[in-house]
Amino acid sequence: MMIVVIDGPAGAGKSTTAQAVARKAGLDYIDSGAIYRGFTVLYNELKHDRASFFEAIKQERLRFEFDRDVSRVYLDKSEITEELRSPSVNDNVSVVAAMPEVRNQVTVELKKAVGASDCIAEGRDLGTVVFPEAELKFFLTADLDERARRRQLEMESKVEYSADSKFQNVKENLQQRDTIDSSRKEAPLQKAKDAIELDTTSLSFDRQVQIITEAIERVRTQRSNSNSQ
Ligand code: DC
Repeated sequence: MMIVVIDGPAGAGKSTTAQAVARKAGLDYIDSGAIYRGFTVLYNELKHDRASFFEAIKQERLRFEFDRDVSRVYLDKSEITEELRSPSVNDNVSVVAAMPEVRNQVTVELKKAVGASDCIAEGRDLGTVVFPEAELKFFLTADLDERARRRQLEMESKVEYSADSKFQNVKENLQQRDTIDSSRKEAPLQKAKDAIELDTTSLSFDRQVQIITEAIERVRTQRSNSNSQ
């Protein structure tokens, strides 16, 4: 079993890259942000009342499913995957992700999600905190303007959220999240010492997928060589 992780700030292209690599190299895909977003839907539903929220976390009202290229989230019996990218979740997810009670629970879910097959997981603290033992670690970055441009395009493709997709709004939301995610006490966004940094500002999408896929193939070849010796 091999674990590959991709960490980096919002909008650096982690999800699309990890999904493409998962398909190409035959890995399971795990989106850790989807878990934090699922907890945020619950937090919003409970009107930001922390006591009820921590109680609900203990009752395990959320359930997560990781398919080859999509991570699905259920609240009680209903699927909430579509709601995960809504503006109200974007606005509150960094606050929820800074709560130690939530981070502990998400780490448990992530460790459960890793099965017998090779997987690629993406997030902020996977290489540093959740899977320090991962065989391959990448840290994806890109300029703030470029990340905002990509996020805006993604949001515009979802008609219902188009009013919130003005460039300036998207950029401010990314910037705010970066600040909270990087400066929080618990597991801040940080490049692991042994992670390979890829600045994707002017790297083509195909090229970044190729770099990661080739690294996976190299590890697989080394492993099969050492097994046959
Ligand atoms: O990758 P994303 O935009 O879906 O992540 C949503 C939020 O979740 C992000 O602002 C920070 C948080 N997050 C985190 O703190 N640690 C992770 N491993 C993944 C996400």
